[in-house]
Amino acid sequence: MKPIIKLLPSVLLFMACNSSGKSKIAIEKNDSKEKATLQNPNLKLSMDRGEAIYSDFCITCHLPNGKGVPNTFPPLAKSDFLMNKRKESIRAIKFGQSGKITVNGKVYNNVMAPLGLEDQEIADVMNFITNSWGNTNNKLITEQEVSMIDE
Ligand code: HEC
Repeated sequence: MKPIIKLLPSVLLFMACNSSGKSKIAIEKNDSKEKATLQNPNLKLSMDRGEAIYSDFCITCHLPNGKGVPNTFPPLAKSDFLMNKRKESIRAIKFGQSGKITVNGKVYNNVMAPLGLEDQEIADVMNFITNSWGNTNNKLITEQEVSMIDE
C-alpha cells in the first residue's frame, strides 16, 4: 500500500470531525482503546495505524461496531475466536479464511479472501481489533510475530 493511500482515511476522518463540530467517526468509539494505550505509546501508534487499515479493508464486512452480520460475517467485538486463537486469527488475516469456524458458539461457513496486507499492517490491525469494542489484549502483536505465522 502506498503511504498516501494509508494517510487518506485519517485525513478524511480529521475533516469529518472538524466540519461537524463534534467528533463523528466511522468506527464506533470505545473506552477499551483509551485504557489499553494509556501506558503504552507503541500500542497507541500501532492501533492508530490499525484503525485506518480497519476502515479501508475490514469495515465493510465486520462493520464499524465490530459486530459483523449474523450467519454471514462473524463478530470481532468480544469474539472468542479472535481473543483466544491469536495465531489462527493472524493466519486468517494473512492468508484468508474459509470453511467452518465457530465464533461465540455460532458456526460460520463462508469465505474471507486474503487482503494483501504487509506483516506490519496485519500487526497494526490486530492490535486495533484486539483492543476495541470491549476487547483488551495487553501483549503487543509485532511484525516479527506475524512473520512467523505460516499458512
Ligand atoms: C469480504 C468480507 C470480509 C472482509 C473484507 C474481512 N473479513 Fe474477516 N471474516 C470474514 C468472514 C466471512 C470470516 C469467516 C470465514 C469462515 O467462515 O471461515 C472472517 C473471519 C475473520 C476472523 C476470525 C473469526 C472472528 O470473527 O474472530 C478475523 C479475526 C477476521 N475475519 C478479521 C478481519 C480483518 C482484520 C479484516 C481486515 C483486514 C477482515 N477480517 C476483512 C469476512 C471478511
